[in-house]
Amino acid sequence: MTTESQSLCTRSMQAPSSHHRRAWCPSFKLREVASMYCTMVAIFFIILVAALQGTAPSENHFPYKVPLDPEGILELSWNISYTEEVICFQLLIKELKYGVIFGMSDRGEFDNADLVVLWSDGKNSYFGDAWTDAKGQIHLDSQQDYQLLKAQKTFGGLLLLFKRPISTHDPKDYLIEDDTVHLVYGFLDEPFPSLEAINTSAIQKGLQRVQLLKPNISKPTLPPDLEDMEITAPDIIIPNQETTYWCYIKELPDHFSRHHIVMYEPIITKGNEALVHHMEVFQCAAEIEKVPHFNGTCDSKMKPEKLNHCRHVLAAWALGAKPFYYPEEAGLPFGGPGSSKYLRLEVHYHNPLELKGVHDSSGLRLYYTSMLRPFDAGIMELGLVYTPVMAIPPKETDFILTGYCTDKCTKLALPQSGIHIFASQLHTHLTGRKVITVLAREGRVTEIVNRDNHYSPHFQEIRKLKKIVTVLPGDVLITSCTYNTEDRKLATVGGFSITEEMCVNYIHYYPQTQLELCKSAVDPGYLQKYFHLINSFNNEDNGNYSNSSVKEQFASVSWNSFSRDVLKSLYDFAPISMHCNKSSAIRFPGEWERQPLPKIKMGLKEVTPQCQTIPGLSPASPALVNIDGKKG
Ligand SMILES: *[C@@H]1O[C@H](CO)[C@@H](O)[C@H](O)[C@H]1NC(C)=O
Ligand SMILES: *[C@@H]1O[C@H](CO)[C@@H](O)[C@H](O)[C@H]1NC(C)=O
Ligand SMILES: *[C@@H]1O[C@H](CO)[C@@H](O)[C@H](O)[C@H]1NC(C)=O
Ligand SMILES: *[C@@H]1O[C@H](CO)[C@@H](O)[C@H](O)[C@H]1NC(C)=O
Ligand SMILES: *[C@@H]1O[C@H](CO)[C@@H](O)[C@H](O)[C@H]1NC(C)=O
Ligand SMILES: *[C@@H]1O[C@H](CO)[C@@H](O)[C@H](O)[C@H]1NC(C)=O
Ligand SMILES: *[C@@H]1O[C@H](CO)[C@@H](O)[C@H](O)[C@H]1NC(C)=O
Repeated sequence: MTTESQSLCTRSMQAPSSHHRRAWCPSFKLREVASMYCTMVAIFFIILVAALQGTAPSENHFPYKVPLDPEGILELSWNISYTEEVICFQLLIKELKYGVIFGMSDRGEFDNADLVVLWSDGKNSYFGDAWTDAKGQIHLDSQQDYQLLKAQKTFGGLLLLFKRPISTHDPKDYLIEDDTVHLVYGFLDEPFPSLEAINTSAIQKGLQRVQLLKPNISKPTLPPDLEDMEITAPDIIIPNQETTYWCYIKELPDHFSRHHIVMYEPIITKGNEALVHHMEVFQCAAEIEKVPHFNGTCDSKMKPEKLNHCRHVLAAWALGAKPFYYPEEAGLPFGGPGSSKYLRLEVHYHNPLELKGVHDSSGLRLYYTSMLRPFDAGIMELGLVYTPVMAIPPKETDFILTGYCTDKCTKLALPQSGIHIFASQLHTHLTGRKVITVLAREGRVTEIVNRDNHYSPHFQEIRKLKKIVTVLPGDVLITSCTYNTEDRKLATVGGFSITEEMCVNYIHYYPQTQLELCKSAVDPGYLQKYFHLINSFNNEDNGNYSNSSVKEQFASVSWNSFSRDVLKSLYDFAPISMHCNKSSAIRFPGEWERQPLPKIKMGLKEVTPQCQTIPGLSPASPALVNIDGKKG
């Protein structure tokens, strides 16, 4: 794009800086008056002719790009300016009929969503900032924070360029944070006389998850002897079903010596951009001597059991993620003695249209060096042990389970100068909705390591942290997961099965230590006391629990507010069993059973924008868009 459009993006930043905005807090009454005024202004359309017939290919200012729909008709690109606190979006609409809807909502619903709508009444096209209420009814926003910069017809389709401040202080707008964002989209196949006439239940629509606010990472210098290795699917045919996890075993070359992985990037087969959802490369456990060369779906009955021992993450990519760079001083070791030569590629295909016969050879390209960097990077598991003693009652909307990495363990296992966490991958199974890890020092929470308030088990990527977090011996790391079990009839217990739950944060850090796993679970003895109490209270104690499994015991609890609240309190107060482990089967020496819960004060204040901007800074009316009169 020309400098003209560049200046467009900056020039239209006349809105006061957010600092300025926060300083002016209108009282509620004033806001009401102002919004009435805005509604009146809305009657007069501000004519914004943003048509440019130019067909010169735009210079790309957008580092991030994702297809929104499974066919890739809508393609979103965006960039972020942290200094101007603005996101610029470019929506490429390859087949335009009478308009499109794009926006964000809590978990991808079309109600309570923050939207921009391009619609046509059959004669003119309009662009506006809108929102939907709890019933999905669309309304024009009295504060127009999305600003159309350009609508341009190109050979590839219609390009819509628009921007919004990262934080708008408009309660009708989605608060964009640096976690997962559920983008929503819809197609308008007919003209609508007004915005309000659009029936969101009746249109073709969908959602796509991305991390919009990526941290500002500069590309580190790479070693001169950089080599690469492609771990890709062997020209498979994507099954014609919505969800497929493909598993493929690849072997490292013979006598492959110790190397450092310093970066990796996705390889996506052309045309399959909307189908390849996420990919991971795992290394198998060194103890497993021979892993069969499997090539098939991960849930196949033919899948050899040995593949379950391939869980050490080497690389992970999810839709929208950029190449991953290790910090210049560290690399992820692989190869050499004590390291398995078997790698397992796992590709998640999302094929909701159940397309048939699509070939795919997607995967990851690992870049590595034999010039080992000063530090080995390591991966540590935080959170909860996979055990049924940690359970979520049924019909819960936001039940929280917490796992600890105690001061006793960090004192024993971490070097004096501490470790530096630079990336994190959160993990739960199907009922996980939020995950957070905080760091506590001397009894106070001092830092958030990673947080996702819109976490989805269908969108797990390794995320670079905005800021490296240093953990010193004696610090405590607390990982909490929030679950929604509204659709479950029985308690959901912890475990490996996809219908059971996990609460994990894989932290990527350096220098590597022997501590591979720092997790906890409630003491099982206290849990038995819970069952006794609940069953005697509910008069169902037949004294025969000693031989049934914890899972069965949970299954026989009759859930009511009492049994639920007592379980919650148990998890909040009962001692824990600490797993301060070197590798999955070796504990650090020490007493780890019946450990007291760390006593932590919340020392962090939540910074949430509370203020309103003055409504009417931008005209509360849709912009008339000239897209060369043609639709369809
Ligand atoms: C974002 O893209 C717009 C439009 O191409 C461009 O004018 C602007 O300079 C870009 N901003 C950044 C931070 O890259
Ligand atoms: C909106 O569309 C849905 C689904 O087609 C339909 O059931 C509903 O009656 C429509 N609502 C209105 C107000 O037309
Ligand atoms: C992000 O990077 C840009 C250019 O690389 C720089 O100008 C800007 O100050 C950085 N912002 C932050 C918040 O680090
Ligand atoms: C892997 O399986 C696919 C089936 O989709 C097959 O077409 C392909 O040839 C197989 N490749 C190897 C290397 O086994
Ligand atoms: C529990 O199992 C053991 C052996 O498996 C058996 O001897 C014992 O009687 C059982 N207890 C109950 C209460 O069923
Ligand atoms: C006691 O529990 C065991 C194991 O769940 C079960 O097989 C057995 O039938 C139970 N006995 C009685 C008397 O309920
Ligand atoms: C930690 O090590 C102990 C053995 O020392 C083992 O029993 C336990 O299962 C390990 N914990 C995990 C979560 O793997």
